[in-house]
Amino acid sequence: MTTQQVDLADVQGLLRYGYKHHTESVFLALRVRDRAAARAWLAQAPVANALPQKALPATVLQVALGAEGLAALGVADDVAAAFSPEFVSGLAGLPERSRRLGDTGANDPADWAWGSGPRTAHVLLLLYALPGLLEAFEAMIQSQCAAAFDVVARLTTIDMGGIEPFGFTDGISQPEVDWDGTRRMGDEDKVLRYGNEACLGEFVLGYRNEYGLYTDRPLLDPQRDPQGLLPRAEDHPDQADLGRNGSYLVLRQLEQDVDGFRRWIADATHGDATEGELLAAAMVGRTKTGEPLAGCGDRGLNRFDYDADPDGLRCPLGAHVRRANPRTADMPAGTGGLVSQLVRTLGFDATARRHDLVASARLHRLLRRGREYSVDGATRQGLHFVALNANIARQFEFVQTAWIASAHFDGLSGEVDPLLGTRSSSSASGTADAFSRPSDDQPNRRETGLPQFVTVRGGGYFFLPGLRALRYLLE
Ligand code: HEM
Repeated sequence: MTTQQVDLADVQGLLRYGYKHHTESVFLALRVRDRAAARAWLAQAPVANALPQKALPATVLQVALGAEGLAALGVADDVAAAFSPEFVSGLAGLPERSRRLGDTGANDPADWAWGSGPRTAHVLLLLYALPGLLEAFEAMIQSQCAAAFDVVARLTTIDMGGIEPFGFTDGISQPEVDWDGTRRMGDEDKVLRYGNEACLGEFVLGYRNEYGLYTDRPLLDPQRDPQGLLPRAEDHPDQADLGRNGSYLVLRQLEQDVDGFRRWIADATHGDATEGELLAAAMVGRTKTGEPLAGCGDRGLNRFDYDADPDGLRCPLGAHVRRANPRTADMPAGTGGLVSQLVRTLGFDATARRHDLVASARLHRLLRRGREYSVDGATRQGLHFVALNANIARQFEFVQTAWIASAHFDGLSGEVDPLLGTRSSSSASGTADAFSRPSDDQPNRRETGLPQFVTVRGGGYFFLPGLRALRYLLE
């Protein structure tokens, strides 16, 4: 395997940078009103690439397209159908998907402010600016777009200094993306030990992923690209690679009931502030300032795993960060006996078992690029959750369905993610309103009656194209 060459000029910057210095941002969810005007504007939009810059750009524009947007922009049906099935059917497009994601009850897409039915976004513009520069930038973009698009949602964001509305430091854990292609899947040591590195193909289409395989992506007969606008596929040089240097972007508007969260914590701990902090930290798996409950010594806030805490006595098995990235395993701890372990892994080979354990975390990583929001005098607050991944089904949907929204996880049952879980009883497992947090002296400690703290208000699945692919789609 040779070191990969990535054409950073073709990659949208958001894949490489969080734009942390660009503390102002707004996301515009648009519907095409005038196809020709929309195509013309998008074709010349100043979309920022991932090349390193000497100085920070004052403003940054990123463009993502929804599946309905491809049709609205006049992209041929067979080209649009070449994208992944979950992108094609959309975040809110199938009742079965909504049920699995926990988008039922209060989260039902029928009640979303945007992102379902006639309010499905065609195009998503993400605008970022250095302090003080967003207003003019947005005004310029909005006026340029006015004839082409209708704004279905204007998602403002707020800079809370890295703290999300419940009061916890966010954005600490991110996978380290292997842009240089030095990660080797044959390197047992790297693959078997939990590490934070991830192959480029986990996030950027057209490269090798953690299976050592090229990502699924839309590949076209070169006759569909007579001008040679698209790169040729590395693994199929006879095909034009529409996916290369792109990614899938998942956006979910997650409203947080901050008062409800604080009230419930206070009630559950009888107003004892110290106990309240401990309970809240147990639900997240980190303290408010970000220290992992599993412990990281002086190695840094993200250098830890759960090997030394198999029963969740330090960090509960069901804590948000442990569900969202179990790091070593999402296997039930069980009795720990050899026979039980063999039965649970359905295998008799210790190496294979370790492979499985690490694979469970390694294959489901997300690049998180969300921003907080606070509107209507802080009466409505939350997170515009943004995740980038190369495979929506294996990454975002797996994390959300099998780990966060599942009432069966790591040997737990009758409980879902304590922060994010949907408590509606429409799921097969009934109302999952408990949270187990065992300790040495209270092995069965379990909170019950958790209300729902987070409600989905909108969202969508988008394709964040490489810049050549964007141009191709608009030709
Ligand atoms: C309002 C909603 C949410 C809140 C308040 C929230 C809050 C947090 C906090 C405080 C952390 C710890 C900081 C860190 O490790 O970076 C965290 C980590 C994380 N969250 Fe969330 N989160 C939310 C939604 C989600 C969703 C919807 C997903 C995925 C489907 C998700 C996936 C993750 C992941 C993967 C991590 C890192 C875990 C690790 O690698 O240790 N979060 N979140």
